[in-house]
Formats: sequence, C-alpha cells, structure tokens
Amino acid sequence: MKKIEIIIRPSKLEDVKQQLSAIGIHGMNYTEIRGFGRQRGHTEVYRGSTYEVDCLPKIKLDIVIHDEALDKVLAAVTSSARTGNIGDGKIFIYDVLDAMRIRTGERGNAAL
Ligand SMILES: Nc1ncnc2c1ncn2[C@@H]1O[C@H](COP(=O)(O)OP(=O)(O)OP(=O)(O)O)[C@@H](O)[C@H]1O
Ligand SMILES: [Mg+2]
Repeated sequence: MKKIEIIIRPSKLEDVKQQLSAIGIHGMNYTEIRGFGRQRGHTEVYRGSTYEVDCLPKIKLDIVIHDEALDKVLAAVTSSARTGNIGDGKIFIYDVLDAMRIRTGERGNAAL
C-alpha cells in the first residue's frame, strides 16, 4: 500500500475529489493548511489578487491506496489540479506498513 499526500490549491479541491471518485477511490481525508514553496518572498496569485507570499492557504489530501492504483491516482490528481502556474502544489508518496478496518479487523488491502 501507498500513502499519497497531495497539496493542492483550495480552488481545485472539488475537481480533484471528483476525479478521484471517478477512478474508484473510496476513502480519503483532507486538511486546510498553509504553506509555501520555493517562491517564498515572490508573488503568487490567490483568488485573483497578487501579493507577497508568506504562507498561502492550500489543501492537503491524504489517501491510502493499493500499490497498483498509484499511477492512476497520480494521473487523476495531476490532470485535475494543474493550472500550469506556480503554486500548483506537490505530491509526496510513502510506503504504508499495514492498515486495519476497525469494525471488522480486516488488514492490508482488504482494509481499504
Ligand atoms: N518541500 C516541501 N515540503 C513540504 N511541503 C511543500 C514543499 N514544497 C511545497 N510544499 C507545499 O506545497 C505547496 C505548493 O508548493 P508549490 O507548488 O509552490 O511548490 P514549488 O516547488 O514552489 O513549485 P512551483 O515552482 O510550481 O510553484 C506549498 O504552499 C507547501 O504547502
Ligand atoms: Mg511555488
């Protein structure tokens, strides 16, 4: 299993959720965060206004998936979250040791 941490623009959340649902992702969570990338101190556009960047609002999605789903998920996220401008976000990929569905005790892929 893999855990994918996806940081996107808040304006892209609905598109990304829709794409993930379309490819059969059944569970995820997201958090409202603030962050900055490598242009810190330079300008980035947020909601139509350009201003000095310190930390901008972003959305972080965490999704745990089967190993085989990785490429499909990466493609769905990049196609729905990309604008081509700076600040589009980033994806971090981790190996997951195990998972458990609390109700049934199922483990591993079966728990997703
Ligand atoms: N190295 C990092 N570690 C953790 N989070 C990061 C890292 N880089 C970026 N982020 C997070 O991702 C968000 C978006 O980053 P951003 O897309 O601006 O990255 P970038 O490297 O500056 O790329 P770009 O040149 O396309 O803007 C940041 O606001 C921050 O929340
Ligand atoms: Mg940036």
